[in-house]
Amino acid sequence: MTDSSELPGFYKLSMKERLEMVKKIAGLTEEEAKVIASTGGLPSEVADKMIENVIGGMTLPLSVAANFRINGKDYLVPMALEEPSVVAGASNAAKMARVKGGFTVTNTGPVMIGQVQVVDIKDAERAKGKLLSRKEEILKKANEQDPVLVSLGGGAKDLNVKTLSTIKGPMVVLELIVNTGDAMGANAVNTMAEAVRPMVEEITGGRVLLRIISNLADRRLVRATAVFDKKAVGGEEVVDGIVYAYAFADADPYRCATHNKGIMNGVVAVAIACGQDIRALEAGAHSYASRTGKYKPLTTWEKNSDGDLVGKLEMPMAVGLVGGAARTHPTARAAIKIMGAKSAIELAEVMGAVGLAQNFAALRALAAEGIQKGHMKLHARNVAVNAGATGALVDQVAQRMIEERKIRADRAKELVEELSKTKHAG
Ligand code: MEV
Repeated sequence: MTDSSELPGFYKLSMKERLEMVKKIAGLTEEEAKVIASTGGLPSEVADKMIENVIGGMTLPLSVAANFRINGKDYLVPMALEEPSVVAGASNAAKMARVKGGFTVTNTGPVMIGQVQVVDIKDAERAKGKLLSRKEEILKKANEQDPVLVSLGGGAKDLNVKTLSTIKGPMVVLELIVNTGDAMGANAVNTMAEAVRPMVEEITGGRVLLRIISNLADRRLVRATAVFDKKAVGGEEVVDGIVYAYAFADADPYRCATHNKGIMNGVVAVAIACGQDIRALEAGAHSYASRTGKYKPLTTWEKNSDGDLVGKLEMPMAVGLVGGAARTHPTARAAIKIMGAKSAIELAEVMGAVGLAQNFAALRALAAEGIQKGHMKLHARNVAVNAGATGALVDQVAQRMIEERKIRADRAKELVEELSKTKHAG
């Protein structure tokens, strides 16, 4: 709480001055201000230009998931997130997938959709026909905006026009179908959608309102598959358990949301590490999951005739290597180097494999032993560290809390005191 959240001229101050002001208002200690001021591997002048009103940085642990073999190649997968068990789960899943050759991933190309909304149209069907008849002209105008993309083989390739019946009456929506190459593409697509506005108004006689990319990137899909050997996963019972878990998600949106969240644990962690727009990825994933009108899992799981488990993932993966934080954030650049992805498609395919692996890890843990066991161990260690435990004491305190089934900050503090005394006495 603060007396006033109005901060006139705040944006004009330097980062240091802004932090000083917030420190005063919020009563931050020197120590708190110092941790905020640190921008980690991101130079403060870069941070200051990335978003507005910057006062510092917020760092996450950066990990590397092991064992991934994708399309016959091995990858070290950078992941940044705060949740324990995710990286270990991905690495374990990838190890089990290796037994049958790892992950196979294909993609539909880096194709995004830019939407142009036209209102005040008298005859929507007629306007649609007129737009389609001037397709080449519209595409030419769009492509003039990005000669570099066009020279690399990308650009606006096609046009789709649809009519909508809305609460505000009929509308025409023109969709530019754009190959965005190695870019995520929001900038390129939005610029093209802007540029065709006068032409669209002239052709339709209507009024153009929104010109913006669609995050339902259903022309930019990755499809990942893997066969998990029944022995490697812990037997046919585990295989059956995972198929039952999938059936549950397929039938119930409450379970499905968590099923898909497990997939996004992996996808988003790689995306953060590699400087991607995770809001776009989440929006794409969940809207794609709902495309039939029912919210469905982004993966399917079945048992094959050998009794092995076959997993398949299909989801939009709008990521890029040029533009955005993938270029400007030095840690993201280094993370992409660790992965070795040479194109946006390669990055998308790795992320698809990680999503499938992560889903497998969660379902296996849930079906075989319940998720809490592994989770609790890591959680207990975190609670112990927060209570002041260091070195060997971390595991001792965590172990005692697990045995006592009391993983709580107050108990951790007591144990830190008790066990460190025993240590000194010994
Ligand atoms: C936790 O972050 C993710 C899970 O809940 C996913 C799932 O239930 O499938 C374990």
